[in-house]
Amino acid sequence: MSNDSSKTPLSPTPSPEGREEDSRANSPQGGDASASGSPARSPPASGEGQPNQWDIYWAHGFVTSCALAFSANYEGRMRAVWEEFFAELEPGARILDICTGNGAIALIANQVSRAGGKGFEIHGIDRARIDPAATLGIDRELLAGIHFHAGQAAERTAFADEYFDAVTGQYALEYTDVPATLLEIARLLRLGGQCRFVMHHAGSIVLETGHEELGHARLLFEETALFERCRELMRCMAHSRTPDERRALAQDADAEEKRQRLNAAAADVSAAIERSAHPEMLRTALGHLSRAWQALHEGGVEPATALLDEAEREIRANEARLRDLEKAAFDAGRIETLVSHLRRAGLSCTAAALHHEAVEGVRHLVGWLITGQRNS
Ligand SMILES: C[S@@+](CC[C@H](N)C(=O)[O-])C[C@H]1O[C@@H](n2cnc3c(N)ncnc32)[C@H](O)[C@@H]1O
Repeated sequence: MSNDSSKTPLSPTPSPEGREEDSRANSPQGGDASASGSPARSPPASGEGQPNQWDIYWAHGFVTSCALAFSANYEGRMRAVWEEFFAELEPGARILDICTGNGAIALIANQVSRAGGKGFEIHGIDRARIDPAATLGIDRELLAGIHFHAGQAAERTAFADEYFDAVTGQYALEYTDVPATLLEIARLLRLGGQCRFVMHHAGSIVLETGHEELGHARLLFEETALFERCRELMRCMAHSRTPDERRALAQDADAEEKRQRLNAAAADVSAAIERSAHPEMLRTALGHLSRAWQALHEGGVEPATALLDEAEREIRANEARLRDLEKAAFDAGRIETLVSHLRRAGLSCTAAALHHEAVEGVRHLVGWLITGQRNS
């Protein structure tokens, strides 16, 4: 995993190797909602059922959804667009960051607030089971003052009408039901309130990398069935514990066929690594395989296959996030529609392509920058 932001591509979904803090003190939700005339809205329940791909991702403690490109928080131009936006807000501004994940943008808002003595009130919501205070390995001080709300959908929040001076989101809005979320944002923003979104661009380096990685997931699970090939050979080996049994296995035609199938699958994956500019998922898969093999020799088939199962779950979660990414990409036509939705919701709006500086001064297209203001 790269620790250097200059080393784009901005892969959004690395394969990890690797409280809810609902402040009622200022009470923007519940009671305030009814006081302002809007019905109290309850967020969808969090913590039920199997963890989804985003629950799994944030539990690893990544700060951003581009953890391969940014070891800490967004940097360079991608950070500057947020610092500039927050620096313009009035002291005491109330900010809502939607689809906040582990709070990358909320953290930038908090830093601007502290540096400028602005005393922002910052809320971050996400539908996933986020818990940045527990999962982020950063100084707790950096999180102090940010209110995170897990299990809260952007389309229908629990906040009062016109509660916020600003609504933000990085790789956020496009993951939601966009028309519904825009109406909700218009409800939440006070007159004159502002919003800013960085959104996925269909032609960005993020999407380019994502497409390639989805191809790698297909190679692993459909074309080579690498994990299954490994499991079937391991199951075969489960019954050969003594030297005699192992000698017999070496002569066993069925076991030999399984060995060859696994070797062929691993060779296909290795060849794809050589060809690829973004081979992290494939490298991770082969790394898991060799660890499982070691576990087989040290502890037997059960721990080895458990390790493989866990690794497969992680990579499949990564694949699911990449599918979300593909659906979230906006081309110029979709952006035009978005701008007209915003205008209909009473917000003036600008949209422009956003570039990030990268290796040797090369600029990469990383998204759309949307800025709006509620003026009716
Ligand atoms: C690509 S991540 C972006 C996270 C963060 N803004 C960042 O830049 O690191 C998209 C996030 O949107 C969340 N999400 C998806 N649909 C949502 C919805 N309808 N309401 C709230 N959050 C949603 C996911 O759980 C995920 O955490």
